[in-house]
Amino acid sequence: MTASSASRKAPARCQEPARCQERPLPSRCLFGIILVALVFLLFTYSDACDPPPTFEAMQLIGKPKPYYEVGEEVKYQCKPAYFYIPPIAMYTVCELNHTWLPVTDDGCFRLTCSVIKDPANGRAVPANGTWEWGYQLHFSCNEGYYLIGKQILYCELKGLRPQWSDKPPRCEKILCSPPAKIKNGKYTFSDIEIFEYLEAVTYSCDPAPGPDEYSLVGESLLYCAGSGVWSSAPPECKVVKCPFPVLKNGRQISGFGKKFSYKAMVMFECIEGFYLNGSDTVVCEGNSTWQPPIPECLKGPKPTHPTKPPVSNYPGYPNPREGFDFDEFEALIIALMILIIIVAVAITGVCLYKYLQKRKKRKPEGKVEYTAYHHKATTAEAPPK
Ligand SMILES: *[C@@H]1O[C@H](CO)[C@@H](O)[C@H](O)[C@H]1NC(C)=O
Ligand SMILES: *[C@@H]1O[C@H](CO)[C@@H](O)[C@H](O)[C@H]1NC(C)=O
Ligand SMILES: *[C@@H]1O[C@H](CO)[C@@H](O)[C@H](O)[C@H]1NC(C)=O
Ligand SMILES: *[C@@H]1O[C@H](CO)[C@@H](O)[C@H](O)[C@H]1NC(C)=O
Repeated sequence: MTASSASRKAPARCQEPARCQERPLPSRCLFGIILVALVFLLFTYSDACDPPPTFEAMQLIGKPKPYYEVGEEVKYQCKPAYFYIPPIAMYTVCELNHTWLPVTDDGCFRLTCSVIKDPANGRAVPANGTWEWGYQLHFSCNEGYYLIGKQILYCELKGLRPQWSDKPPRCEKILCSPPAKIKNGKYTFSDIEIFEYLEAVTYSCDPAPGPDEYSLVGESLLYCAGSGVWSSAPPECKVVKCPFPVLKNGRQISGFGKKFSYKAMVMFECIEGFYLNGSDTVVCEGNSTWQPPIPECLKGPKPTHPTKPPVSNYPGYPNPREGFDFDEFEALIIALMILIIIVAVAITGVCLYKYLQKRKKRKPEGKVEYTAYHHKATTAEAPPK
């Protein structure tokens, strides 16, 4: 049904608005006009569909209208930067129940960036499984190679054309220059100038000129772990000499010797009546100290761990849950509410009762007697209070 037929059918008394305005508008006439407008609106909208659904990848062909008639068809096309692959339908129809025939934008696909091949000695992987714009391309290099450039490229829209965010990266062979030379020591393959990935050298210390040997402190084996990066810092060659381990009220039980050099290990125990505070085993470290420090033997039986009583048991710290129960509080509120309701009902009842009584008395006496009655009534009812 159309708008024109709706207004023709309307039961208005004032069919020509121009004539209505000549005389002052009677309210009947105004009512008529409003009714016409209402019926008009009702028919136009009840007979229509709302604007058709919108989509990410497709748009209406032509301008959208505020409403559509039953049976009206609208067509879609893919938005720019998308392209259509059949056979998904690209139209919808306003149905009898004022809904649109279901339609999707599944037929529209994003344009893709140019395919980038795997770099030499590496891989290029579309991280989201697609070459479409809005997605990523991830690069990685084979073992022994490292990446030069961006690890992630983004397929982006530049204007309406999808383009990569950067140049593709390269994979280069991992190489290391020789590791650092050290004092009082040397390493193997010292004549080689370029080391490849995972190639290793081993450090050793020179013989010491004095009575104490040099100790190699740190890692003796280093390998080329990354581009110009060795697996660890080079070691040191130095004399390590820890002080003779002395334990008062205790004795050494292992690791006896005259000299205590790098990594020497000593164990202790205390004599009867004393207990050990600290570690029973210590090691001579590279800086010529015992680690952990040499323990102590303290008098008495070994104390068990003292346990603090929980805070809530201390006097003066009442348990916050004690003394005030939430359930009690709730019960109190409910009781209070019931009380208020009872009082309200009572007051209402009394008022109603008084009112009814007044009416009963007023009927026979009439208006003239009212003030006299009113006075009488208040004084008469006073005593029971
Ligand atoms: C409207 O009618 C169509 C069939 O004509 C039906 O598939 C659809 O579910 C109906 N929609 C509603 C909201 O009733
Ligand atoms: C694409 O994949 C990457 C890596 O898995 C992820 O971080 C990113 O959120 C994905 N992008 C989209 C749009 O799904
Ligand atoms: C045990 O040794 C530690 C660390 O040296 C020290 O802090 C602690 O006070 C010692 N205990 C006793 C009971 O002396
Ligand atoms: C000696 O080295 C150890 C770790 O091996 C460290 O904890 C200690 O502080 C060092 N002591 C000195 C005096 O440098």
